[in-house]
Amino acid sequence: MTKMWAGRTAGVTDSVADDFNSSIRFDCKMFREDITGSMAHAVMLGAKGIITRQESEQLIDGLQAILEDLDSGALEFDLGCEDIHMFVEQVLTQRLGDVGRKLHTARSRNDQVALDLRMYLRSQIDEITALVKDVLTALVDQAEANKAVIMPGYTHLQRAQPILFSHHLMAYAMMLLRDLDRLADCRKRMNVSPIGCCALAGTTYDTDRRFEARQLGFDSVAMNSIDGVSDRDFCVELMSGLSMLMMHLSRFSEELILWSSWEFQFIELSDAYTTGSSIMPQKKNPDMAELVRGKTGRVYGDLTALLTTLKGLPLAYNKDMQEDKEAVFDAVDTVKMCLKVFAPMLATLTVKPENMKKAAQGGFINATDLADYLVKKGMPFRSAYKISGQIVAKCMQSGCVLETLPLSEYQAFSDLFGEDLYHEIDLNTCVEKRISEGGTSLFSVETQIAYVKEKLA
Ligand code: ARG
Repeated sequence: MTKMWAGRTAGVTDSVADDFNSSIRFDCKMFREDITGSMAHAVMLGAKGIITRQESEQLIDGLQAILEDLDSGALEFDLGCEDIHMFVEQVLTQRLGDVGRKLHTARSRNDQVALDLRMYLRSQIDEITALVKDVLTALVDQAEANKAVIMPGYTHLQRAQPILFSHHLMAYAMMLLRDLDRLADCRKRMNVSPIGCCALAGTTYDTDRRFEARQLGFDSVAMNSIDGVSDRDFCVELMSGLSMLMMHLSRFSEELILWSSWEFQFIELSDAYTTGSSIMPQKKNPDMAELVRGKTGRVYGDLTALLTTLKGLPLAYNKDMQEDKEAVFDAVDTVKMCLKVFAPMLATLTVKPENMKKAAQGGFINATDLADYLVKKGMPFRSAYKISGQIVAKCMQSGCVLETLPLSEYQAFSDLFGEDLYHEIDLNTCVEKRISEGGTSLFSVETQIAYVKEKLA
């Protein structure tokens, strides 16, 4: 078929080149944005007298009909078209004749594609935001349902200090709140309209870019037309925010996988979010969590791909930039899929408080509290630290734990030890006394939960 841009050339290209060049397979995702963007353009052209009111109305009605036909399935994408922009204009022209040919006045596909992409990703950010909030809600619910459950807190994956399970969950909530902030921040810079920048230099027509931008819900317009059509920072920013979000989900997945292992048995994932093995009858595999962890690499890859594509591109538009869409769409779709499975997986998991408590009881997890006991009795911390270490070694030799070592043995290390030490090193005391802001005491965790709930409201 002869191309719409035939003129300078005959507009007849090789069919392999056509396939190579065409983007409609993936940019058809933006049909709604392309059509609403064009409707706003037609309104502006009519309002400014660049086309007649009647032509403007005809274009708007024609575009509306195309939108409805695409929604209902009466109209299908023509994969022979170069991209979604050409497709819509082609259908419009087939249906309206010459009036259809007026739509592209004072516009270029360069500002059009930048507009569509910003509008599309803007609404994707809103969807992702809602999905992240679902995960946060599941986190809050699990934290509230298991508020006082004690588990070992780890550093270096070695038992470190006792913490509340709810405290651990709230750590992830804080990460996700930052992710929401990043998305909102990215949305602000994304919500700037490039339409009217035209090919790169602006236009000689008396257009009204701000009027067009306002109709489409943008906060402002790109201040430099060359930047307006060349900028893909908003895609990179979004993918970087999404990478960070995936990194959080991946760390969390790793812990869920570990916690649900036979060795830990801190939690059990619901059957609905696990799979069996085709050979080992006893298996219950955390596939969903593993896939979230795995797909994180894929989202990082999308970010790296676009950064690399953009590196070294001269201003203004270059066809390389068509590569932005598959990367950013893949990142967005992947993140949405992960969030959709993550929230219910979290909401339906069962916590095993006895096992967490049992794990917290071994491993001398209260050794810091033993040292703090001596400090409170007047010993300098570094000396208390040393003695507590020696007591741990002693316990290991005699096969007991701090709670069961007799007082006489303690007193051989320091006469500051008294009967009250057993209360001080009790796991409940260790947790309850950590009242510092952000700490693991029930009061402090309740404050954190309230903070997250307030942010969600
Ligand atoms: N399909 C193109 C893209 O996604 C639209 C812009 C084409 N502009 C051009 N001058 N060829 O980037």
